[in-house]
Amino acid sequence: MPLSDAPLLLALAGDRPSRTPVWFMRQAGRSLPEYRELRVGTRMLDACLTPDLAAEITLQPVRRHGVDAAVFFSDIVIPLRLAGVEVEIEPGRGPVFANPVRTAADVDRITAIDPEGLDATAIAEAVRLVTAELGDTPLIGFAGAPFTLAAYLVEGGPSKEHMRARAMMHADPDSWNRLAGWLARISRRFLEAQRDAGASVVQLFDSWAGSLSPADYRAFVAPHSRAALEGIGIPTIHFGVGTGPFLSDMRLGGIADGVGVDWRQTLDEAAAILGPDVTLQGNIDPALLAAPWPVLEAHVQDVLARGRAARAHIVNLGHGVPPETDPDQLTRIVELVHAG
Ligand code: CP3
Repeated sequence: MPLSDAPLLLALAGDRPSRTPVWFMRQAGRSLPEYRELRVGTRMLDACLTPDLAAEITLQPVRRHGVDAAVFFSDIVIPLRLAGVEVEIEPGRGPVFANPVRTAADVDRITAIDPEGLDATAIAEAVRLVTAELGDTPLIGFAGAPFTLAAYLVEGGPSKEHMRARAMMHADPDSWNRLAGWLARISRRFLEAQRDAGASVVQLFDSWAGSLSPADYRAFVAPHSRAALEGIGIPTIHFGVGTGPFLSDMRLGGIADGVGVDWRQTLDEAAAILGPDVTLQGNIDPALLAAPWPVLEAHVQDVLARGRAARAHIVNLGHGVPPETDPDQLTRIVELVHAG
């Protein structure tokens, strides 16, 4: 089968392939014992920048579960690290920045870094190793959306309501727009490096966009997310959590081929809002991965049935795989979806 006939790519083009494609956000990670074994003694971001390690971790879930796509093992903060920004991922916590970007002067300093100068050699090398092994299975490249990156960068670390980033939009809209515009260029560069090395699809993660009002999303965020994706030249998926109140904006004016839906809204509801020109991705509730198989099975069947309301459907979770998930549950989901 040529790569162009892969079910994921057909679904993003609006077709309904004979096999419904399925993959999982955070499929490469802590739910797999083989991942935990490989990661011993290596910090998260160092693992991402070690090409053979990143490639092997990317391939592990494809081998184990038979999913229809690999998602590149990396992190949304990697392009910032490559741009020279001091960042670490604290286990159990998330990204932490040594110097939060809070004032106009902080924004001046960080935006003086030219995104074009970012050295993506390690990323390109890892992507090439992955695609050489994947054959007809597509690789999904990804990046963080400007707001989700800013939610960490302005705060300096993880936060619940991303108050500082949301405050900057209103207190100093000029600084906000300069920062978000720069983050869009940083993420764009990361996406292009993955595309140029062989990724077939890209997904933009706006995991924390759900903390925004629809008006703020439209005014301060959507234009920057659109800039990160527009004209990239390969199919795109735009994913957010809690974005139900402004779901139609997640199409970014029609440039997203696929939109991710979390578990708070059914896929038939989402299809009614988004219309016939976009493919839906989702939306198994990650909490149900901990339920007995018959309960999870009934839920997956319901997701599949409601997904028929969309022009095409890529099965996924509503958000990432929780670390404590029994990986056999994921394998069973893949078998069920492929059995049709
Ligand atoms: O999906 C995949 O399997 C591909 C790899 C991937 C990772 N992070 C690996 C990772 C992807 C696509 C991401 C994106 C990412 N990173 C997002 C957007 C997606 C989402 O889940 O909402 C966000 C918000 C981040 C930032 C981040 N990185 C967080 C909040 C954490 C968790 C911190 C923790 O320990 O709980 C990370 C770390 C991270 N990124 C891990 C993995 C496998 C865990 C690292 C470990 O093994 O300790």
